[in-house]
Amino acid sequence: MDFEKLVKERYSLRKYSNRPVEREKLDLILESARVAPTAKNIQPHYLLVLQSEEARKKADACMGSHFDAPLMIIVSYDPSAEFVREDGQRFGEIDATIAATQMLLQAADIGVGSCYVGLFDKNALKQSFEELSGLSPTAVLCFGYPDEGAHPSRLHGDRRSIDKMVKSL
Ligand SMILES: Cc1cc2nc3c(=O)[nH]c(=O)nc-3n(C[C@H](O)[C@H](O)[C@H](O)COP(=O)(O)O)c2cc1C
Repeated sequence: MDFEKLVKERYSLRKYSNRPVEREKLDLILESARVAPTAKNIQPHYLLVLQSEEARKKADACMGSHFDAPLMIIVSYDPSAEFVREDGQRFGEIDATIAATQMLLQAADIGVGSCYVGLFDKNALKQSFEELSGLSPTAVLCFGYPDEGAHPSRLHGDRRSIDKMVKSL
């Protein structure tokens, strides 16, 4: 899809059908995270792919948003590996978020809906998945196809104008 159209048409999907996301599409989504830019190219991000009912239910129990999506990806990073700037600014969470953004856009490009979920209980999530040991979870991404009646929320069209956001010198 044309990029300008893609970034405008992508929206947070919150009503998923039970149609699974095809393996080839999942692979493309994961690849977009693999090639994402990271500070100093450290690549401190990790992905945990959840497709089984058991794993998705476990994640859902730790989240503040519940969408029953057929595919969820927990995006995390290794705080012992992330780049830290001289002034103390840490980049792991930023790196993980950029990888997450690339996955959302890649998904939209191949017709897969998604929602970034940041509202979750981090400690509960870490306790639920031993694979997150030593990692810091940044986002739970939901993926799938729209169920009947799914539509963008009102907030999707609610953006500040360019002149409120940009200053040019
Ligand atoms: C960092 C971040 C955290 C978010 N967390 C949640 C969340 O926990 N639950 C949810 O339903 N949506 C969440 N969203 C989606 C936003 O609410 C959504 O992107 C925003 O309202 C604009 O709508 P749109 O994505 O449809 O354009 C999150 C988005 C971002 C970028």
